[in-house]
Amino acid sequence: MERLDVIVLGAGAAGLFAGIEAARRGRRVVVIDHARVAGEKIRISGGGRCNFTNLQIAPERFLSNNTRFALSALKRFTQWDFIARIDAAGIGWHEKTLGQLFCDGSAKQVVDMLTGDLARAGGALWLGVTLGDVTPEAGAGGDTEGSARFRVDTSRGPVLASSVVVATGGKSIPKMGATSYGYRVAEAFGLPLVETRPALVPLTFAEQELGWMQPLAGVAVEGRVSHGRTGFDEAMLFTHRGLSGPAVLQISSYWREGEAITLDLSRGRNLPEALRQARTAAPKTALRTALAGLVPEKLARHVEAVLGIEAQMGALSNTVLDRVASMLTGWRLMPVGSEGYRTAEVTLGGVDTDALDARTMEARRVPGLYFVGEVVDVTGWLGGYNFQWAWSSGWAAGQAA
Ligand code: FDA
Repeated sequence: MERLDVIVLGAGAAGLFAGIEAARRGRRVVVIDHARVAGEKIRISGGGRCNFTNLQIAPERFLSNNTRFALSALKRFTQWDFIARIDAAGIGWHEKTLGQLFCDGSAKQVVDMLTGDLARAGGALWLGVTLGDVTPEAGAGGDTEGSARFRVDTSRGPVLASSVVVATGGKSIPKMGATSYGYRVAEAFGLPLVETRPALVPLTFAEQELGWMQPLAGVAVEGRVSHGRTGFDEAMLFTHRGLSGPAVLQISSYWREGEAITLDLSRGRNLPEALRQARTAAPKTALRTALAGLVPEKLARHVEAVLGIEAQMGALSNTVLDRVASMLTGWRLMPVGSEGYRTAEVTLGGVDTDALDARTMEARRVPGLYFVGEVVDVTGWLGGYNFQWAWSSGWAAGQAA
């Protein structure tokens, strides 16, 4: 039977990082994944360029039942620490927008850096291996630092180790190999879970709204999408099923069924004033033409149709212009759902952080059992935050496992 110090379950961002760090400490490490290649989500991320971190990492940009939990790991292994690794590997990068850092070339460079670092540190990588149960092992011995505490059944036979790091990610994109395995391991050891749901996901609408949204499919518009006090100033995109685009993906993490979201398309402009000026400048133009200077033309036509205004600007009173402005600044929409795990970038919820040590990611009641990355109830904003959580939490576990 194979005996090691650390078994890492999942060769994604968090698992590879935890494996590298533990192996660099001289621990005998194996990272196991059922996929045929490691780091598949890294490879497809950021449109193939991997948005690997964000310059503006801050705890309030992560959702969790305990918003303070992520702080320790994020402070101990920061975005600057990860950038240093990327620089050391000679990978070129650039800031795209809002502090989001992308590879100049291919995301595969990041996967190669990680698998290379793991191999150089002496860690093993088993791919295409099916995982079975993780069970406590009473006094099996043979480990460099005390006895093996766990047995992990795999399609390559059972493996014993004193530490197990669960890094099997969330439920998003089952087609790419996502499973609920990590949650089941947590449950088997009596750890509480926070309810999971798809996040960073396009929102869908009922037929009534789709009637006017579908003709707009493909139209992108800049603005603010908000839910309660939370709002994001980024692009949104009409789709055949509803709304997508960065601002909508961001708000999907906060939205719940039965609640509305609000679009503000003013982009900080004083719309009542802008419409009055447009009326003075060109009183003979149609409202849709005047609006087309403020929002995409197809949307301008829709606004005109909804409000039933088919007059020249010169004929519109201030009250009517104010109605137009308030529609564009406080447009309440009622999503009926989301596209679900099929397209969600991440999974909200997961292993309850109350059950974990924030410094090491170790389960408080199960010494030697660690949870890192997306399987934990920590979910970042869109824009490199989720990878930074994977690096930081993986690093923290790698120092202790
Ligand atoms: P991850 O999902 O990466 O890895 C889990 C691993 O466990 C996988 O290799 C999987 O095969 C394996 N596994 C699962 N179940 C198993 C089982 N039963 N047996 C064996 N192995 C099993 N984030 C970001 O910060 N910037 C970005 O640009 C993007 N872009 C992006 C694009 C798309 C399309 C998606 C879906 C997601 C993103 N993300 C992102 C989110 C980011 O990919 C995600 O947060 C991290 O990959 C999470 O890292 P983990 O290592 O926790 O899980």
